[in-house]
Amino acid sequence: MSEFVKVARVGDIAPGSGTTRYLGTTPVALFNVDGRFYAIHNDCPHEDGALGEGSLCGSVVTCPVHAYEFDVSSGECLTDSAYCVERFEVRVDGDDILLRRPEP
Ligand code: FES
Repeated sequence: MSEFVKVARVGDIAPGSGTTRYLGTTPVALFNVDGRFYAIHNDCPHEDGALGEGSLCGSVVTCPVHAYEFDVSSGECLTDSAYCVERFEVRVDGDDILLRRPEP
């Protein structure tokens, strides 16, 4: 079973925003939705836009390249269901935010 890895601190990501972190060599888009944290693969499954640089409205991030929308809590693509994105498990431990890849 993979271990949780610290990637950020709670204060690094303001509510309503996102950023990009790495879990090993994997880029992960990490979002703060009203104090709850969610993580999805940073690479948009459409054409590799950086989802961590997208704008966040509620739990929906808009890809900065072609504006496909993704629910960061489920990884579902709201624009085209063929393009769901990988999710990561998030744990908050004190001020630390930790991630791990879910078991298959
Ligand atoms: S690269 Fe994200 S919508 Fe096209």
